[in-house]
Amino acid sequence: MAKIVILAGDGIGPEVAREAEACLRLISGARGLGLTFEDHLFGGAAIDASGDPFPEETQRACENSDAILLGAVGGPKWDGGSVRPEAGLLKMRGTLGLFANLRPARTYAGLESFSPLRADIVKGADMLVVRELTGGLYFGDKVEGTEEASDLCTYSRGEVERIARVAFEAARKRRKKVTSVDKANVLATSRLWRRVVTEVATQYPDVELEHALVDSTAMALITHPTRFDVILTENLFGDILSDEMSVIGGSIGLLASASTGTTGTAVFEPIHGSAPDIAGQDFANPAGAIASAAMLLDHLGHSAEARILEAAVEQAIAGGFRTRDLGGGTRCSEFGEQVRLSVDAQL
Ligand code: NAI
Ligand code: MG
Repeated sequence: MAKIVILAGDGIGPEVAREAEACLRLISGARGLGLTFEDHLFGGAAIDASGDPFPEETQRACENSDAILLGAVGGPKWDGGSVRPEAGLLKMRGTLGLFANLRPARTYAGLESFSPLRADIVKGADMLVVRELTGGLYFGDKVEGTEEASDLCTYSRGEVERIARVAFEAARKRRKKVTSVDKANVLATSRLWRRVVTEVATQYPDVELEHALVDSTAMALITHPTRFDVILTENLFGDILSDEMSVIGGSIGLLASASTGTTGTAVFEPIHGSAPDIAGQDFANPAGAIASAAMLLDHLGHSAEARILEAAVEQAIAGGFRTRDLGGGTRCSEFGEQVRLSVDAQL
């Protein structure tokens, strides 16, 4: 038994979350996983109902959940208001102590031509950025003067240890390689980072660890993306590198993410926003949301089922089912249905 909270959100959020939830329901039913689902208000929809993008009741449901599936939030409707839907995302990160952000980036067979990189360079690329989300420059003391300003970058041993463990655990389920990215030739925080990651690595003798500098990694991601498996890095470097990586697959609609925290529950969401330009028309690509649902299954320990769901997305794409962002005419709901047919065939 596991309790899943669905926060469909705004714009295309409900459209893609619906497809992902339907995939989870199908798999849970067929495999007897006992997943239960509960919808709660979040983002703009929650502001409309109560003025708060992350209301008490939603907060409590999230705290008591095993996993959270999120669509997307935001939209022009709330842009002028005093509270923005995105404030709900920040509040949720704080409440659930979400310190680890996991962003896979990969290419799908048949979609190589949508990548801005040459097909022969990008073919087979499949990596995961594990980004520390609650430390470093973004959360350090700030001085904001007119002539001088500063942002303090701090990391503690404990902060590095816990994110390193997330990366090594993830690598164990993948190709067993961690590239830890820092700037140890210049930054003291990076030298601590490197020492602590090296120590944590001794507990994972089955996983290969390499250290790399962030500047050369930024190049290697473009020249040799297939070299990487898990990329472990701090907050600022992770912010930049995860966006750099996210373009290699060819559409923002394909990408999934997970944020894990200190409370045991975790948030799974596509990386895209609410896409107001295509909302309500059944045009959205639900692949990123469905791939997020596969990460959710992994989080709950159902890795065989996670692989089935991932394979079903691959098969739908390889079978020529393409939503509009990939130049096709497949509707959001049709793509979801196709994935479920493929799941069914594998169960
Ligand atoms: P966006 O990701 O919503 O859209 C960017 C472009 O990509 C648009 O042309 C959109 O149509 C397309 N796109 C995005 N997802 C797609 C999908 N699944 N299938 C097909 N096409 C897709 O980013 P944008 O336009 O900057 O932001 C729109 C709203 O979403 C804003 O209010 C923003 O604050 C919010 N947002 C929310 C996020 C979240 O909930 N985590 C993340 C990013 C933005
Ligand atoms: Mg960013």
